Amino acid sequence: MRFIDFEKEIEGKPTGLFVLSNNNGLEAVFTNFGQRLVSLLVPDKNGVFDDIVLGHSTLEEYLYPESEHYFGAIIGRYANRIANGTFVLDGKEYALVKNNGENHLHGGVKGFHTVVWETNQISANKIEFAYVSEHLEEGYPGNLKVKVAYILTEDNELKIIYEAVTDQNTVVNLTHHSYFNLKGEGKGDIGDHIIKINADYFTPLNKNMIPTGEIVSVINTSMDFTIPKSIEKHIDNKELLPTKGYDHNFILNKNQTNTEGLIFAAKVEEAITGRILEVYTSEPGMQLYSGNFLNNKTKGKNIENHLFRGGLCLETQHFPDSPNQKEFPCVILKQGEIYRSSTVYRFGTSKEKANLI
Ligand code: BGC
Repeated sequence: MRFIDFEKEIEGKPTGLFVLSNNNGLEAVFTNFGQRLVSLLVPDKNGVFDDIVLGHSTLEEYLYPESEHYFGAIIGRYANRIANGTFVLDGKEYALVKNNGENHLHGGVKGFHTVVWETNQISANKIEFAYVSEHLEEGYPGNLKVKVAYILTEDNELKIIYEAVTDQNTVVNLTHHSYFNLKGEGKGDIGDHIIKINADYFTPLNKNMIPTGEIVSVINTSMDFTIPKSIEKHIDNKELLPTKGYDHNFILNKNQTNTEGLIFAAKVEEAITGRILEVYTSEPGMQLYSGNFLNNKTKGKNIENHLFRGGLCLETQHFPDSPNQKEFPCVILKQGEIYRSSTVYRFGTSKEKANLI
């Protein structure tokens, strides 16, 4: 059995596993604890299926992690860091939980990755999760009602649609934190993955991993993925030492969209399997995180431990620390408004290149 003991009760709410599939044999397995994508089976160029996301085979390992890596989880209320765990909204200062040195990271200790979501499986290929985050949970103002839908389409896309409403002005920035390894979980690191990122600019970081506020061109830096290159090519350059590799927000160009009008964010290819992953989004940014804090201590689903840089995250998002950076796109959700955000992860192979970007 690949998965054991996911049926539990946490704070009076039932947990379990939920399987989405499409007619091409793709399969996505979720648990409603943190909306974790536990497993994702996709074919390679010869039609061989592998599980291409990092995760665990028991709920216990997600519940009590030695260190939290956010495997496959939804991230909220605010993806990435908020400096000093504070921000001012409508003239009032809010103090958030500090869980990353002096900073607030990924929604705090009790972020959306740790809560049990109400689940409604609509059909074989669609599931919806809902949760009400109470006023001042982890320090954020407003009762926030969140709904997230995942659809596994016949075009081999995993489509994520986020919605939220609040009864008081607040800040929101939701993302998805799967670690992808196109060779398959446990089959080495992602240094050899070739990536193109549709971004001419990025947001540089200070020593606390908070954006300095500058918008800098990627040209002549390690951040230039406008022409595809391997993740490992510049990953050990001096400028990436403070973050131990890629852990940066790219500002997406708006020049290329899919049929739904979502921006083309990135394309990742792995030569041996021929697997290709494309990312499209309604968000203005994407964090490339190359799994630099994975340390061979957490167990994968196939016995192997999660290697340093054993997976990469492509976190579509508004920019880190935006509540404190007035020049960045606004992340305020006002009472009466609806937060809407969509991201598509599309899986193909080198054999059907004509269909992909
Ligand atoms: C962040 C990293 C953080 C990691 C935790 C990523 O999304 O960008 O800085 O350490 O999540 O797993």
